[in-house]
Amino acid sequence: MSAGIAAYKTPDLVRKLGELGAQVQVILSKNADQFVAPLSLQAVSGHAVHSYAMTAESETGMGHIDLARWADAVLIAPATANMMARLCQGNADELLTTVCVATEAPIAVAPAMNQQMWQNAASEANIATLQSRGVHILGPDAGEQACGEVGPGRMLQPADIAQRVGALFQSTELTGKRVMITAGPTWEALDPVRGITNHSSGMMGYALAQAAIEAGAEVTLVSGPTHISKPEHATIINTVSALDMHSAVMSSIDEQDIFIAVAAVADYRPIQSADQKIKKNADEMTITMIKNPDILADVAGREKPPFCVGFAAETNNVIDYARGKLVRKKLDMIAANHVGGSETGFGTPDNAITLITEESVIELPRQAKTALARTLIAEITKAYKAQ
Ligand code: C5P
Repeated sequence: MSAGIAAYKTPDLVRKLGELGAQVQVILSKNADQFVAPLSLQAVSGHAVHSYAMTAESETGMGHIDLARWADAVLIAPATANMMARLCQGNADELLTTVCVATEAPIAVAPAMNQQMWQNAASEANIATLQSRGVHILGPDAGEQACGEVGPGRMLQPADIAQRVGALFQSTELTGKRVMITAGPTWEALDPVRGITNHSSGMMGYALAQAAIEAGAEVTLVSGPTHISKPEHATIINTVSALDMHSAVMSSIDEQDIFIAVAAVADYRPIQSADQKIKKNADEMTITMIKNPDILADVAGREKPPFCVGFAAETNNVIDYARGKLVRKKLDMIAANHVGGSETGFGTPDNAITLITEESVIELPRQAKTALARTLIAEITKAYKAQ
């Protein structure tokens, strides 16, 4: 945000963006902290607020390039006349302007200034330049201004800005289509307090659900136990074990057009789960396990299956194993990812994927799971429509 009086509305804007499912990191331009307390923004965003200066200290945290890559969209609200002039120049003289120059993400600005400043010929030229470069201009509103004048130049209301930023990601590619996604781990109980589970966070599946919603689909998210917030506008079915997940999927699979199995389903479950907490009386203990049903293979093996996409998380021979699963489980597409390293895979914000169909192999390089999810949904949609 830049240093304008409308900055006092930004904590509300951050909340509204959060309500739409966005993660928000705030960068203040020089003097913006004169208009709003950084601590308020930290509290509502859940992230440390970045100040304008590019110091050695700030660059050792999330530096300007990391921030530029992290963002799916950059919004400057309020955007002062001065900030827009600097954007036009391509200035990289403080953190916010540098991120704008360095990012590939769409940029939106919500102008906020005195009506005479807005109507100034230089401001008009700057807006036209920004528009011609694909910058989204949100507003401004007209009405009574902080300076007492009346006219165009007021920043749009936070709810309106949030909704317009959300719309940047919207498409109608999957309008009228039903997409079911499994996500997260499963929990196979040993007794009422213990169980067998895995490191899946649910992030990738949830990001795909959000991307499918943005593409206009009606989404059913069948989730194992996770600690991340659920996407709005999806039908959520919470499950615990693989058997629960299996029956939740089967209960409405015939209505689905596309099925994406992202869940890390336990291959085996204890043959018995004790009713009471197991006591440590014996020196040794043997747990007998039985195979769980393969949810994805069961769906793909139906008489009239939806378009089926699987995930193959492997530590080695990633492509070969994934191709094997594509054939064995009769899938339309499989997303293979390497889970051995520390930077991609389980519980990390980034992922890299190789997308395999019978005819093609597409490499999707390391990026944030949210960005990757959009590309995946676009590729899945293309393949689904081409069948
Ligand atoms: O065979 P493997 O477990 O590696 O296959 C992974 C793919 O199969 C993932 O898409 C996963 O969601 C799905 N799967 C499933 N039910 C199982 C095991 C895996 O749906 N029991």
